Amino acid sequence: MKTYEWIGVSKLLTLVYTGSSAPCCVYDLLPPDGDRVNRLTRGNMQANGAGQNRDSEVSCRNGAQNGESSSAGAAHSNGVVSVTNNGNTVSNNNNNNGVSGQPAANSSNGSSEGKKKKRLSQSEEDVIRLIGQHLHGLGLNQTVDLLMQESGCRLEHPSATKFRNHVMEGEWDKVQPTYLQCTSRMKFLLLQQKYLEYLEDGKVLEALQVLRAELTPLKFNTERIHILSGYLMCSHAEDLRVKAEWEGKGTASRTKLLDKLQTYLPPSVMLPPRRLQTLLKQAVELQRERCLYHNTKLDSGLDSVSLLLDHTCSRKQFPCYTQQILTEHCNEVWFCKFSHNGTKLATGSKDTTVIVWHVDMETQQLKLMRTLEGHAYGVSYLAWSPDDAYLIACGPDDCSELWLWNIQTGELRTKMSQSHEDSLTSVAWNPDGKRFVTGGQRGQFYQCDLDGNLLDSWEGVRVQCLWCLSDGRNVLASDTHQRIRGYSFEDLTDRNIVQEDHPIMSFTVSKNGRLALLNVATQGVHLWDLQDRVLVRKYQGVTQGFYTIHSCLGGHNEDFIASGSEDHKVYIWHRRSELPIAELTGHTRTVNCVSWNPVLPGLLASASDDGTVRIWGPAPFLDVQNAEGLNECCSMDS
Ligand SMILES: *[C@@H]1O[C@H](CO)[C@@H](O)[C@H](O)[C@H]1NC(C)=O
Ligand SMILES: *[C@@H]1O[C@H](CO)[C@@H](O)[C@H](O)[C@H]1NC(C)=O
Ligand SMILES: *[C@@H]1O[C@H](CO)[C@@H](O)[C@H](O)[C@H]1NC(C)=O
Ligand SMILES: *[C@@H]1O[C@H](CO)[C@@H](O)[C@H](O)[C@H]1NC(C)=O
Repeated sequence: MKTYEWIGVSKLLTLVYTGSSAPCCVYDLLPPDGDRVNRLTRGNMQANGAGQNRDSEVSCRNGAQNGESSSAGAAHSNGVVSVTNNGNTVSNNNNNNGVSGQPAANSSNGSSEGKKKKRLSQSEEDVIRLIGQHLHGLGLNQTVDLLMQESGCRLEHPSATKFRNHVMEGEWDKVQPTYLQCTSRMKFLLLQQKYLEYLEDGKVLEALQVLRAELTPLKFNTERIHILSGYLMCSHAEDLRVKAEWEGKGTASRTKLLDKLQTYLPPSVMLPPRRLQTLLKQAVELQRERCLYHNTKLDSGLDSVSLLLDHTCSRKQFPCYTQQILTEHCNEVWFCKFSHNGTKLATGSKDTTVIVWHVDMETQQLKLMRTLEGHAYGVSYLAWSPDDAYLIACGPDDCSELWLWNIQTGELRTKMSQSHEDSLTSVAWNPDGKRFVTGGQRGQFYQCDLDGNLLDSWEGVRVQCLWCLSDGRNVLASDTHQRIRGYSFEDLTDRNIVQEDHPIMSFTVSKNGRLALLNVATQGVHLWDLQDRVLVRKYQGVTQGFYTIHSCLGGHNEDFIASGSEDHKVYIWHRRSELPIAELTGHTRTVNCVSWNPVLPGLLASASDDGTVRIWGPAPFLDVQNAEGLNECCSMDS
């Protein structure tokens, strides 16, 4: 029974044969390159390892094999590692650099060539190669040489080094014999570079020769060959570079070529470019993913983070400290909404007024900018026009009017009412800013222009909440049948998208139009994927009865979800986790609505039946003592 095993540094290169009755052999599968022999070790060969100390240490290159055998073997007093294998005594010696058999006269400090190497596991070896590659990139060539000598590892296969050097020097004729097991694709890439370089040098005949005699016979990518032949017409080098989208003859294009070629070579032969940086970037990315309070843009460049510690955001940077309490409303506050560019906040109240607040983008302080009065009803829903120039206000169930304000001037632009029987409780702007849709539970569903003229209406939909998708054609409406349906006013089609088991009191949609966040009566906050039409997650903690509560997505990358609650708290979740990461306390009655500033990821507003609007921000003082004092209004689990 014959078994073959791949072992060692370059799994691809070395094959061990461990037949039941035959001794152990190691073969190098690649062509010999001078300083190495084809058959590295043979059983029954008593190697002359005299004088080598640290008998249990063996070469890194043959580490796996030796590790296996030496565990069963015994260290002889003469310093040779001997292994009994099927009754044959097998010696391991260091063949790595062809100096085996030469007595190493010096002890531990001797030239490292003759020194026996510490046994390394595959992963240790990989790490050394990664470090070696990184240092090489920094130009610390001597250190790398020493590192490889001392560890007995090899940065890459010698033929890979040759290959690399030839490519970088543009020695195309020398590249050919070192083709390794080049695939047609690799050969094609190499020849393409050769061809382009000839062309750039104006050696058209040579280029043509490459095209005809070398590229075409590959029969690899005929389409590309046609394109390449077209470059023969280029009048000068600059023209060629532009047309071929090529960096031109030299280091840049050759490095790029090598990077490409590398992806077709096994890592045992040549490491992928900048492998250590790639791994570190992945680590940073993962840390960011796991950081629950991560609410800032983190540059993926390694220079912007410390690699010495895992990245975590402090909860102190998270908007859960009361920064301001707005008390100007004199009754329950039902709604709040930041404008798209984050510079204003509109709040609507049972006191029938809308207040527009100015947000100082530097200090994050809010100032009353304007009070809009005149409503006959309370204000329970607000929508900013896409350009933030207008604001539409709707009322509760019995409200048959809709008010459209010009925010710059404070003028009422339109007061729209179709019939006193109507209920207009929800509104959404068409992305073109020239139309809006509105409706209510009594069955109105209108599309209107800015002057309140009815453009279209849809019969028989009892609208709870509305949203216009960014394509400008489709309107989403939640209705009294516990579902969200999509309606197109253009081709008058409709379709089911979301079906819940309980009434959908309100919903909002993520910026990319993919996710819908629902407040469902008695159930709480549900996140749906609109494209796949599946429920993604149910968020826990919030108390939701039959009041309409508005939740929102927000924070950096819309990674967070906030919602009001009937238990007087504001709840915040990370989008990926069901349990709240923060519960904000301070309000003394139901919190009806929350809004996350779309531009400042650390600013959140909440509106409550207690008549106040609270503005939440990061801890005002980042030193611990002061922040502790504020902890009472911000309890969080860890
Ligand atoms: C040990 O090596 C050093 C330098 O490699 C050499 O100068 C010295 O003679 C060696 N010692 C012996 C005992 O061979
Ligand atoms: C071995 O090398 C170390 C550091 O290079 C040195 O301190 C020590 O004296 C050397 N030992 C011998 C025996 O040469
Ligand atoms: C290190 O090696 C690289 C690639 O072989 C070479 O470009 C560079 O000049 C070398 N640096 C030094 C300091 O020898
Ligand atoms: C925000 O939008 C308003 C209304 O369109 C505009 O007046 C203001 O200049 C904008 N501010 C910023 C910072 O874009």
